[in-house]
Amino acid sequence: MAKTLSRNRNPCLKPNAKAQESHETSQAQGFSKLRVPSADFAHHRVGVARLNHGSFGSPPAPVLEKAQEYRSEWLAQPDEWYYADRLEDGLRSSTAAVAKLMNSEAEQVVLVENATVAACIVAQRWGRLVLAAASKPHADCASDEHGHPRRPKVMMFNFAYEAVVNVVRHYCCDVGADLVLVDIPFPISHSKEVLDAIQRCIDRHQPEYALLDMVTSQPAITIPIIDVVKLCQSSGMEVAVDAAHALGNVEVDVEAIGADFLFTNLHKWAFAPSGVCALQFQGDTEKVEQLHHPIVSWHWREGLKAESMWTGTRDYSAMLAVPRSLAYHAEAGGGGAHGHLHLMQFNHSQVLRFAYMLGEAWGTIEKDGALPVPPSMCSSMAMVRLPEALKADSPEAVAALRSRLREVFKVEAALICLNKQCYVRLSHQIYNCKADYVRLQEAVKRMAKGKDLVEQEQRVVEQEQSQ
Ligand SMILES: Cc1ncc(COP(=O)(O)O)c(C=O)c1O
Repeated sequence: MAKTLSRNRNPCLKPNAKAQESHETSQAQGFSKLRVPSADFAHHRVGVARLNHGSFGSPPAPVLEKAQEYRSEWLAQPDEWYYADRLEDGLRSSTAAVAKLMNSEAEQVVLVENATVAACIVAQRWGRLVLAAASKPHADCASDEHGHPRRPKVMMFNFAYEAVVNVVRHYCCDVGADLVLVDIPFPISHSKEVLDAIQRCIDRHQPEYALLDMVTSQPAITIPIIDVVKLCQSSGMEVAVDAAHALGNVEVDVEAIGADFLFTNLHKWAFAPSGVCALQFQGDTEKVEQLHHPIVSWHWREGLKAESMWTGTRDYSAMLAVPRSLAYHAEAGGGGAHGHLHLMQFNHSQVLRFAYMLGEAWGTIEKDGALPVPPSMCSSMAMVRLPEALKADSPEAVAALRSRLREVFKVEAALICLNKQCYVRLSHQIYNCKADYVRLQEAVKRMAKGKDLVEQEQRVVEQEQSQ
């Protein structure tokens, strides 16, 4: 009983208080149309400050309810769903909804399980092209400076998501391609630094393929993707954009971007339940016909659309709930044509506000008042350097620090060690409130002071919570 009372004194532990504070903030900052949820995130574990929306996202209650409805209906009569085309029709509606938001024709979009699967689809195509080139008669192959057949190159960022790098290693490097990395500097101060780094990589390696992030994961940097795609395509590359962090976080207009392929998760920033990613493709029919889902099933060689629609018996409810999740995203931003944009702008302004608050409290803002990533290159995520006194200067120390934040202070935050410095990647989503960030601020200050015995920290936190 005492525990329940003490919990309720913390504003971050009460969804309604959070909503109230968030509501006041949004009004004060000119986001008056924002619809702030009250119970929509009440399923979050009470007492945990969730500052890591970027990793796994979080579907709100109305979307979860919709997904559950689909799950129950499927279980009530799966034959009807499968044989009378309800599943196919539902997936078509979901595809159409996401295509519209990305400014694409629905015919050029497929829904797959996640960004990793989408990366496999693209990399598998490139791997086959690499093999085909290698099987040409020797005289037809380009050669390197030693007269050996030239190995095709796939270009990625140094900050590419490691799982996706592994995908390229498996499908492309294992059959004869080389991976070449663009060295994005960090800290970074201008988007031109990205373009210059890409140009240097192109000049040095002349890659054939590029798989580049639209928003890098760690550190979080929003890439000037339209210019990047143009630059790569002007050098003759086929370009795929890993936009896993994009939809619902930054604007995605595939027509303006013009990449050959772009894939974006919906379970990160678009409020879908786990397990939905949209893969968009452009270009000639032959190219599209060479795309295959990595899981081979009934619709083998009937085209990527058919192959992706049924990869075997599984839970399709997350994909079916996409129209609801996108509608929720727009409603949360105040509805109407600008709802999506409004919510993204709100999250962006809030995450910057709290990034500066933490940087100032920790004394880690650079002398010129800068964050490691400038505001123009931040989305709903921002990077802040942690105090050196934490001595988190290796990946192992950072992993231990992250665990301690979770276990002792009940804060979920994504940390990374870069150049022997520790940084936190902050996320902001509509369910966050100032108290979440203050919790992180105080936890870090306490640990930096050297009061780092776990039991001692535990005692202090428990005392605070019971007051
Ligand atoms: C840039 C990037 N690409 C790909 C992925 C993989 O996404 P998923 O786990 O949904 O396949 C992530 C996940 O965080 C990511 O940040």
